[in-house]
Amino acid sequence: MLTLSRAARLVGASRVALQLKIRSGELPSFDGMVSAEDLLRLYPDIRLDEDGGFEQVREIKERAFGRRVRERLLPSQEILSQRLYEQSTELADLRAHLQRYHAMMEAVRGRIGEQEALPGMAALGAFLDAQLAEILGATEAPNALAVMDDMLRIMSAHVTLHPSGHDFFVEGADTLLEAALKAGLAVNYGCSNGNCGLCKARVVSGEVRQVRPHDYALSEAEKSQGYTLLCCHAAVSDLVVEALETGSAGDIPPQQIVARVKALQPLGDEMRLLHLQTPRNNRLRFLAGQNVTLAAGDTSAELPVASCPCDDRNLHFHVARDPKDDFARQVFEALRPGDPVTVFGPWGDFVLRADSPRPILFVASEAGFAPVKGLIEHAMSLDRAERLHLYWHSALPSGQYLANLCRSWAEALDNFRYVAVTEGGAEALVERMAREHADLAAFDLYLAGPEGFVDGIAKALDRQGFPAAQLRAAAR
Ligand code: FES
Repeated sequence: MLTLSRAARLVGASRVALQLKIRSGELPSFDGMVSAEDLLRLYPDIRLDEDGGFEQVREIKERAFGRRVRERLLPSQEILSQRLYEQSTELADLRAHLQRYHAMMEAVRGRIGEQEALPGMAALGAFLDAQLAEILGATEAPNALAVMDDMLRIMSAHVTLHPSGHDFFVEGADTLLEAALKAGLAVNYGCSNGNCGLCKARVVSGEVRQVRPHDYALSEAEKSQGYTLLCCHAAVSDLVVEALETGSAGDIPPQQIVARVKALQPLGDEMRLLHLQTPRNNRLRFLAGQNVTLAAGDTSAELPVASCPCDDRNLHFHVARDPKDDFARQVFEALRPGDPVTVFGPWGDFVLRADSPRPILFVASEAGFAPVKGLIEHAMSLDRAERLHLYWHSALPSGQYLANLCRSWAEALDNFRYVAVTEGGAEALVERMAREHADLAAFDLYLAGPEGFVDGIAKALDRQGFPAAQLRAAAR
């Protein structure tokens, strides 16, 4: 039996796609697990060299183990060798077990041979000989799924968190903290570099290995109970870990970090992407969709983070050209790569509802897309929502400033749909959404944009009878 996450990895599908097959009855499931046989029946064409789950292996082969690829994709040599050692031990155990069975069969055959004069013994001996010849002579191809599962266990480890039941894979040289953040999970942490102890968690089963130095000292009692620091350890084997996860935006303390401008990139004529990078040992902990206050020179502004918390060192902001806004002028006219920008925050509770089972509608206008982009990326990493639909309104002649990105999401993901809206008011947009979603009230809806737009959509939704508790809005 395989967990849904592992099954999805093996067949190169999303977890949501498998959930839909379970719901439609195509794929039986037992306690949230699926059987390898049922999976093979549904995906009979899995091959080691063609399947999406093995994209990484293929990429490694193609680039002939180039150094950068190896750094990015492969676990450290120590972890790889330890995983191989464990699989070899398992294999040696199996081999010894088989040899004992073989010896036992030979002994049984010998005893039958000695008793062949007794009635029925000769027939039993002949039956055993035929069975053994068939089994030993069989040349069955190895089960592709089993081979891939073994490979996956070497390339990555599967971690289940308690008590939430959330799970994720640890790939390449990632620490447990990095892997959890990449999976969209809001585990508790502080400094990310072994100083504060906030990422302390208890390993219930499995083996971890320290991959980064840390100054924070775990007590002997903590060590003996299995506590470890998520930011400094990687998984050697599959793990079950007891860890604190952030329930809401209020759980994250405000921080102050001096970051540097990494890049300034035009997004059309009217928008700039401000890319900040925090120091390696002082990253911003936040939830997707939250705001921070940025201060540069003697100007400041509160802006939503447009990137995902899974990359907490690289923070993206969308800044609209506005001659009346001092901070926007600073970004368009004065800031250069390398300049310091102070980041305070995070603020606000425009964040995904934790563990909501509902499909999600995102509605943005103009730069309201910035926090929505963070939320969409977060929802994609979580891979839990059956449908993610985005309506992005823009009245600018240049249109939606990251339309290509939205189109590429729609092409890559079966459950993502993008609609560019260029005309009509709030009423017309809500009517369109209701026409295109007969089950509109079944969605969680996240709405962001200028105040007038957000107000208009919220009122129109109310008139449509949309449940207020399922609406989260951010107006600027
Ligand atoms: S986050 Fe501070 S020690 Fe791990």
